Amino acid sequence: MEQMLEALKKIESEAKTVFGRVSDRDELNNLRIRYLGKKGELTGILKGMGKLSGEDRPKVGQLANEIRQTLEEVISRKSEELEEAALKQQIEAEKIDVTLAGTKIECGHFHPLTRIIDEIKDIFLGMGYEIGEGPEIENDYNNFEGLNLPKDHPARDMQDSFYISEDILLRTHTSPMQVRTMAAKVPEYPVKVICPGRVFRRDDDATHSPMFHQIEGLVIDENISMADLKGTLLKVMQQLFGPDREIRLRPSYFPFTEPSTEVDVSCGICGGKGCRTCSDSGWLEILGAGMVHPHVLEMAGYDSTKLQGFAFGFGVERIAMLKYGIDDLRVFYDNDVRFLGEF
Ligand code: DAH
Repeated sequence: MEQMLEALKKIESEAKTVFGRVSDRDELNNLRIRYLGKKGELTGILKGMGKLSGEDRPKVGQLANEIRQTLEEVISRKSEELEEAALKQQIEAEKIDVTLAGTKIECGHFHPLTRIIDEIKDIFLGMGYEIGEGPEIENDYNNFEGLNLPKDHPARDMQDSFYISEDILLRTHTSPMQVRTMAAKVPEYPVKVICPGRVFRRDDDATHSPMFHQIEGLVIDENISMADLKGTLLKVMQQLFGPDREIRLRPSYFPFTEPSTEVDVSCGICGGKGCRTCSDSGWLEILGAGMVHPHVLEMAGYDSTKLQGFAFGFGVERIAMLKYGIDDLRVFYDNDVRFLGEF
């Protein structure tokens, strides 16, 4: 019996050391089987119990049970320890370093031309104007005839056109929106509308593009004069370019306005003294305008003895070029993010 008790104690101390060194859960499990399993070392010794006397058997049994219990506890503690270490390792591996620089997400923005159009829309909305939009494919009547440009009128040559058929073309300006607006509103007045949109001409160089943008304006009411036109455009230019800007009206010719005028804004670079940008004149040409020709009003069904109107046409690219100091209009359509990113 003494021998058996010795052997049991030896197993206990050996197992304790071995378990203490384990660093892996599979290994721990294998060792548990080796010492405490059905065919394990502990059971192996107890097999010899048959030879013991009835008196000694319980003593050996008791010690064996105590050892089993102690070793189970050691194993369970070790198992917890290993589990905790594994979890710690996993957390360490998955840890997010919030101080690391992130991946930058590029943020887009409106195209500079869209920005100018929106800015001009806002200015006119603030003055009580409506905003209209019309088709880019027009008929000859709206684009020319209704604007006092009958077939064979020499002023048609000012606008080299893309024809789709004899009667249908890509609109060469936004002025057909005057004809459309009047047709929709007559005999109602006052009319106060601006119409932004794309227009098309057979032109292509640093300052002309086959497609560009205009904003048409039309006002019809009683007692409308050139002074209203000038006052309106001055306010718009000052809001767009700065409160110190001035405008000047030069006589010009458009078939659908009488009188017609070319409107210049004072140069912002030299303040009107003259520089390279304004070709030493102190002024920058910015838009065409005039009093709506009585014949245009009459063709649309308005009584030109009772009502007057003024109209104007902005070139959006021209305004953007002046506002941002751009000398080649083609950059607006190149889609080069290096350029677009500047805005
Ligand atoms: N439609 C003209 C053009 O594209 C610009 C223009 C001039 C519009 C005078 C107008 C205006 O409304 O009154 O050249």
